[in-house]
Amino acid sequence: MSQAPIGIFDSGVGGLSILKTIQQHLPNENLLYFADSKYAPYGQLDETTLKQRCLFIADFFVKRKAKAMVIACNTATALMAEWLRTEYDIPIIAIEPAIKPAAAMTKTNRIGVFATQHTLNSERYRSLLERFTADKEVYESACLGFVEQVEKGELDTLKTISLIEKNLLPMLDQNIDTLVLGCTHYPFLSDSIQTVAGKQALTIVDNADAVCLQLIRVLAELQLLNLKLHQANYYFNSAELEDDNQVMSNLLGYTIKIFSLEK
Ligand code: DGL
Repeated sequence: MSQAPIGIFDSGVGGLSILKTIQQHLPNENLLYFADSKYAPYGQLDETTLKQRCLFIADFFVKRKAKAMVIACNTATALMAEWLRTEYDIPIIAIEPAIKPAAAMTKTNRIGVFATQHTLNSERYRSLLERFTADKEVYESACLGFVEQVEKGELDTLKTISLIEKNLLPMLDQNIDTLVLGCTHYPFLSDSIQTVAGKQALTIVDNADAVCLQLIRVLAELQLLNLKLHQANYYFNSAELEDDNQVMSNLLGYTIKIFSLEK
């Protein structure tokens, strides 16, 4: 069982930012990555469709005998994590915006949060704010268009930079010094975000390491850590992919084979 794979999913390619971190910390593990790009962005799906997608993907992993599942998507976590845990027996590790570390880091007591509208509206997120930011100013933005830019692999094009400016500059005017990336697509935009921030000091935080540590804790407790040699990772995408689709490989920094569910 310890050699069984770990299933990781996101609305699309964004969760690769989590997969990368998991690979660094757990090089022995066999990973299945499911990019639900056909349905991205989840931030614009209604709850019924989102639920159906989560069920489909969880079943997909269970059929492939996954020993654990990582929801590498803040939006799916915010709306579906608790419910998924009641439906499946395998451990489910979920992600939430890094509000707690950001609150500990800020010197200006002003934090910016980039996340999808579903995440910003969720009870889970609101409860994080209540617990950790009572004495802080929090500026939020739903960042329309960011997920689509990352899905296209446009990390630093003029359009992407202009979208970042639109969302970030008003927050910088409010003197934020810490920015939470509450969507797993956004870490791929970190360099462009820093470019827009320019000389204004900005610390960017996300929860990739926290998710990974939680995964390690859970697997260790269940004696499911893979101590043998790693065999293979498999990548799936629900969208039809052009033959020359390189986005996932480019984001990872090496070439992977992707199995499209549309073919
Ligand atoms: N990566 C997803 C997240 O972390 C993006 C959500 C979306 O597709 O809208 O929230």
